[in-house]
Amino acid sequence: MNKITYLDNNATTPLHPEVKKSFIDALDIFGNASSLHQMGRIARAHIEDARAKVADFLDASPEEIIFTSGASESNNAILNNVVCDNSSCGTKVCSSTCCSHVITSVIEHPSVYETCKELAKDGVKVTFVGVDNKGVIKMDQIKEALKTRAALVSIMLANNEIGSIQPIKEVVAIAKATGTLVHTDAVQAIGKMKVSVKDLGVDYLSLSGHKLYGPKGIGVLYVKKGIKFCPLIKGGHHEFNLRAGTENIPAIVALGKAVEVLKTGQEAEVAQIKKLRDSLKDGIVRSIPDIIINGDVENGLVNTLNISFKYVEGEAIMLYLDLEGIEVSTGSACASGSLEPSQVLLSTGIPIEFAHGSIRFSFGRENTQADVDKVLEVLPPIIAQLRKMSPLYKKQK
Ligand SMILES: Cc1ncc(COP(=O)(O)O)c(C=O)c1O
Repeated sequence: MNKITYLDNNATTPLHPEVKKSFIDALDIFGNASSLHQMGRIARAHIEDARAKVADFLDASPEEIIFTSGASESNNAILNNVVCDNSSCGTKVCSSTCCSHVITSVIEHPSVYETCKELAKDGVKVTFVGVDNKGVIKMDQIKEALKTRAALVSIMLANNEIGSIQPIKEVVAIAKATGTLVHTDAVQAIGKMKVSVKDLGVDYLSLSGHKLYGPKGIGVLYVKKGIKFCPLIKGGHHEFNLRAGTENIPAIVALGKAVEVLKTGQEAEVAQIKKLRDSLKDGIVRSIPDIIINGDVENGLVNTLNISFKYVEGEAIMLYLDLEGIEVSTGSACASGSLEPSQVLLSTGIPIEFAHGSIRFSFGRENTQADVDKVLEVLPPIIAQLRKMSPLYKKQK
């Protein structure tokens, strides 16, 4: 196989070598952490060590960290929490109509967006807040929706397709004034900016192992101490009675290692990644006409560059790049099987013909300037060739 230029780190990241080692070593920790004998106690100690590392990384307490199978589960658990049967989890919660209103945004990951649509079908009032042309939520709509107390606001910290960072602290301030709980999906922000639950002031937060150089199938749900939470997966005492199921020890240990590694090396890596992303952006702007840069490159995630190329299909660009060993995405990995233009991009108001020709480059710790140079060498002729074949382009020129 030719050397791969991997520029799809928002879809998933390669395992960090130290994380991989910790995962492999932890495969030998076979005890069940619920067992009271020595093997069980060893397994338990490893889980609690990882929990402490994640808590430290997020500025939380260990008992506020619940390990899940990934951020999709964490997000579903939080939305399920809105409609859960409160009698079964023993927590007292408001039973008035405020508890049937959820506020979210039009650019959430499908694990929030689609789940909210399901809630709406079940009779929950759901407000989908819009975004401006940079992909940042409209605060006037948040204020309007939060005139009275709601059950939950769920807004992502950073968007996976265009990298726009959302003003969560402002959302929290408005929500708190009405006693509304706030959840943030921080999957894409972690590792690219400092994330502290204390600083953000959120009640719930989701993260995913495989977006931060950890393994797949492991995630975290942060639940602030004293805040209502009914388990999505019931039937066991694991994770403080909040998520049943025998713990995935190698993945948990590796996630602990991943956040430990991030904590020490994050700043330098982020600066390097930003330099590469900007270098690619400038090179594309110089060499390819009729493009739109989506999102908020100045204030958004430092690793993300989403560009629309007029008159061509994003899928075609992605496949041509793949033939050259360059791996990118047309949008979110979960939506890339769909031929519909990205809902996130359309929400920012870009014309549909541009939305169809969008490519997301997302950098990670292993990228170098050579990767940028390779894209800048092969992308302009690919776009020129595709445009030559495009009836839209021929009509225009
Ligand atoms: C913003 C966001 N939230 C949630 C998820 C889902 O994470 P997981 O793959 O751990 O279920 C993703 C993954 O693409 C994501 O980008």
